[in-house]
Amino acid sequence: MRVLMIAPPGAGKGTQGALIAAHFKVPHIATGDLLRAHVARHTHLGQAVKQYLERGELVPDEIVLDMVRLAVIAAKDAGQGYVLDGIPRNMAQARATYTIVHELGMTANVALHLIAEDQELVRRLVARASLEGRADDTESVIRRRLTLYKEVTHPILAWYAERGILLSVDAMPPAEQVGQEILGALEAMRPLVDGVPDRLSSLSAQRRS
Ligand code: AP5
Repeated sequence: MRVLMIAPPGAGKGTQGALIAAHFKVPHIATGDLLRAHVARHTHLGQAVKQYLERGELVPDEIVLDMVRLAVIAAKDAGQGYVLDGIPRNMAQARATYTIVHELGMTANVALHLIAEDQELVRRLVARASLEGRADDTESVIRRRLTLYKEVTHPILAWYAERGILLSVDAMPPAEQVGQEILGALEAMRPLVDGVPDRLSSLSAQRRS
C-alpha cells in the first residue's frame, strides 16, 4: 500500500500515518519529523531549516524533495509500500514527488485527505503545545500554517481527484474512529492495489491526468 497524506495541521497526519504504516507494515515517512530531527541534531540542514519551521513557513522544495527521494528509495529496498506524510505541500512538490515515485515504480495508490474544521485544528495544536512544546505550536504560527495550507496545499487536491486516487475522510471524530474509517477504506482497496502492477496503474493515472 502506498499512501500520500494531504491535510491541514492538526488534522491527524502523524496520528493516522503511524496507524496506516503499522497496519500495512510499510515505512512512515513524515517530512516534518525528518526536518525536526535535523534541527534537534544541529545538522547543517537543521540549521538551514530551523527558522522556516519556527515561523510555520514551507522550507525550500529541493530540501524536502531530496529527503523524500532518499526515503522512498529506502522504502523500495524494504518492500513496496510507504506512507508519505507532509508532502506534497504545493503543486511543484506534487509534480516532483510524482516524478520521483514514478521513476522508482512506486506511484501512490491513494491520496488521503483528512478534513477538519479550523477551530478544532487550533484546539488540538494548542493542547499539544502544553504537552510537547513544539516550537511552531503557538497560536500565531498555527494560524500561519493554516493559511499556507489553504493557499498552496489544498488546491493540489484537485490534481489527485483527476487522477482518480483521492480519498477524503472526516477527521473530526475521535482519532480511533477516524483510524477505523481509514483502515476500512484502504482494506477495501487492497485487492485492487495488490492486483495492479505499478506500471499499469501509473499508465492509467497518466491517461487520466
Ligand atoms: P509537519 O510536522 O508536517 O506539521 P503540520 O503539517 O503542521 O502537521 P502537524 O504535525 O501539526 O499535525 P498532523 O496533521 O500531523 O496531526 P497530528 O497527528 O500530529 O510540518 C512542520 C513544518 O515542517 C512545516 O510547517 C514546514 O515548515 C516544514 N515542512 C514539512 N513538510 C514540508 C514540505 N513538504 N515542504 C516544505 N516544508 C515542510 O495531531 C495533532 C494533535 O491532535 C495531536 O496532539 C494528536 O494527538 C491530536 N489528534 C489527532 N487526531 C485527533 C482526533 N481525531 N481527535 C482529537 N485529537 C486528535
